Amino acid sequence: MTRLPDVLRRSLGLPPEATAAAAGIDALHASVIGTALLGIGVIAALTLFFIVRYRRKPSDGPTPRIVASTLREWLTAVALFSLFLAFWSVGYVQYADIEQPPSGTPIVYVTAKQWMWQFTYPDGRSSEDTLVIPENTAIEVVMTSRDVIHSFFVPAFRIKQDAVPGRWVTLYIDKAKAGTYPIYCAEYCGVSHSNMLGEVRVLGAADYAEWRRQAPAVDLAVQGKSVAAKHGCFACHTIDGQRHIGPSFAGLYQSHRMLDDGREVFADEAYLTRSMMEPLRDRVLGFNPVMPSYRGQLSADEAGALVEMIRSLKDSPIQPKMALPSLTASLVDAGADAP
Ligand code: CUA
Repeated sequence: MTRLPDVLRRSLGLPPEATAAAAGIDALHASVIGTALLGIGVIAALTLFFIVRYRRKPSDGPTPRIVASTLREWLTAVALFSLFLAFWSVGYVQYADIEQPPSGTPIVYVTAKQWMWQFTYPDGRSSEDTLVIPENTAIEVVMTSRDVIHSFFVPAFRIKQDAVPGRWVTLYIDKAKAGTYPIYCAEYCGVSHSNMLGEVRVLGAADYAEWRRQAPAVDLAVQGKSVAAKHGCFACHTIDGQRHIGPSFAGLYQSHRMLDDGREVFADEAYLTRSMMEPLRDRVLGFNPVMPSYRGQLSADEAGALVEMIRSLKDSPIQPKMALPSLTASLVDAGADAP
């Protein structure tokens, strides 16, 4: 995607374009503004021309009533609407790109709370108010809020996304350029809203490796196992692919799940966390609705650790040590949870 000339970008008051998506969004922004300015220019010029050319002379009679043909009215309406649709289509593709990271993209978990940003990385480390990511790498951001609605706003990435308590949303940071960029909260969230600031540090490969060396971390997927043990998840879910009271965690991530209301869902991070918080909303076919909600029981870090554990079990279910009694054998086999 071509970048905006620096002079134009600065005259529009825009921050640097630090991702590939930012350049595309700026190009769309500039073409919408450019088209509107062109329209204003043409109309103003025509107005001036008509004022001079058709100035009323003393010899003129009453002004005749002029009616445009229906065809011309339709053509004008359709042309303007097509222009709007063209802008919309480009914007829609850009929006879909930002919201839908390719599968397998490394994840950072973001938790907003009054009045700070907390970042948790898959290798178990975490940081507050400073998000550290490697340059030129695709990163998926999985975000929620612990209290009220906040909004994660990184102007240099052209990203602004609400963080809503009880909901998880994903964002995609596509190949950021090295540098430090401010993070703002863009949703009024209480007295210190304006102080809810942070920064993204995008590091080059060497600096990033150095940063990773500094703070040894515990694997988040390993933490996920102790979280699952602590909250009793293993009473109903296995990690070896065997079905039990609930579906097995093995092979669950990125599988297609048939639900008992006929819908089919894709088991991404948002689905997994939603199922912890609202287990009865998407009930997998063939399982009884017995799971309680873990909203308020699991912290955002713990939910992130659980998702990371389930991700780690995507392709490599642990071999069963013993067979479970087939207490669910009489239920319809959903097929979707088979390893
Ligand atoms: Cu958080 Cu405003």
